[in-house]
Amino acid sequence: MGNDYRTIASCRICGSGSLHEFLDLGEVPPVNSFLESPSGEETTYPLEVVVCEACNHVQLKHTVRRSLLFENYSYFSSASEPIVEHFGDYAKTVEKRYLTTDDLVVEVGCNDGVMLHQFSDSVRTVGVEPAKNVAETARERHDLNVLTEFFGEQAAESVRDEYGTASSIIANNVLGHVDDLHDVMRGVETLLEEDGIFVIEVPYLVELLNDVKFDTIYHEHISYFALGPLAELFSQFGMEVFDVERLDVHGGTIRIYAQRSENDRATSDYVKDLFALEETLGLDSLVVYDEFREKVKQRRKQLTKLLDEFAEQGYSIVGYGASAKGNVLLNYCNIGPETVEYIIDTTPAKQGTYSPGMHIPVRDPSTFRDPYPDISLLLAWNYRDTILEKEQSFRESGGRFVMPAPHVDVI
Ligand code: TMP
Ligand code: ZN
Repeated sequence: MGNDYRTIASCRICGSGSLHEFLDLGEVPPVNSFLESPSGEETTYPLEVVVCEACNHVQLKHTVRRSLLFENYSYFSSASEPIVEHFGDYAKTVEKRYLTTDDLVVEVGCNDGVMLHQFSDSVRTVGVEPAKNVAETARERHDLNVLTEFFGEQAAESVRDEYGTASSIIANNVLGHVDDLHDVMRGVETLLEEDGIFVIEVPYLVELLNDVKFDTIYHEHISYFALGPLAELFSQFGMEVFDVERLDVHGGTIRIYAQRSENDRATSDYVKDLFALEETLGLDSLVVYDEFREKVKQRRKQLTKLLDEFAEQGYSIVGYGASAKGNVLLNYCNIGPETVEYIIDTTPAKQGTYSPGMHIPVRDPSTFRDPYPDISLLLAWNYRDTILEKEQSFRESGGRFVMPAPHVDVI
């Protein structure tokens, strides 16, 4: 196993060695690696979270070698209609506010081109996307220029040599996956025009803590960002945040606009408001994180108690949506096939497999209706509204959903 993962000795942002460990979710396999057989071999890695006592950055204590996690990346952003719409609006906003004819936009982790292709033809676009199959889709579907690489100083030099400097560098839901944040920032430094902007979207730590969404913590997600630590990271590279927005997408996201500090775009009041909010919430103290751990334990207790009661009453229980976060939840709560008989999922590649860690069979959604189970554990709780709407007849026929988040609930 040796170099399959490493334990960090210092904060990925500020380098401090004072890391406070506040959550241990146990030994967990890669939660996107479904198994061909229930007795399949699998490797587990520690899943522990620390907060830096110097800059308050929340991050995993270990880094699993990325080739072990991202080998066949199967997340295509365009699969979800609201996501496509979100990135369309986002592209228009950036273009209208900050871009002029022939400007270059570079997107780090452009996925299948969901955002880049929604810029108008008057600007130039380049994507950098390490997952081969996803990058190929962006090229084929939208005729985009895409480099198949992890973004960092080297990739930034390649882009700059071929296309020139960028007016805008965009990175959505990417920074959280990156172990070497400094290399990404050196890339931004290399590639960004003097008056260019760096725009990112990341899931917001405040929502993770408030809604106790501990199941969004897994090996692919190395960092959990708040504005404070990000501003610290940017300042190390001569950059500052000048605007920020809070968005509902992915259950709580922040969009951050940064520029080189020499620029004179005014800092919006929202930036000050968000710094103030983070201070009020006490993100710079350890108490909040220790409380979070207790809430996570509490959540596990409530959920397992509820499911045990249903099982004792002889009710049939199945899982709905074999999501990565579902696998975190099942592993941490030690819920296996003796409780959850199977999980249904619409993704053909997952059907016929077994869930990582707990080895629960994954089946085609038609199984769900044939006949309906008594209880369905909503593992894909981020699609709550869509699924409740789609499965009205399940509930009309007496079936009940168990919600694991944002509260344990039966509906
Ligand atoms: P995600 O949160 O990573 O997008 O994963 C959600 C999983 O749930 C994904 O494997 C697809 C599955 N799913 C269903 O099976 N039925 C549904 O109606 C929805 C919305 C998702
Ligand atoms: Zn730090």
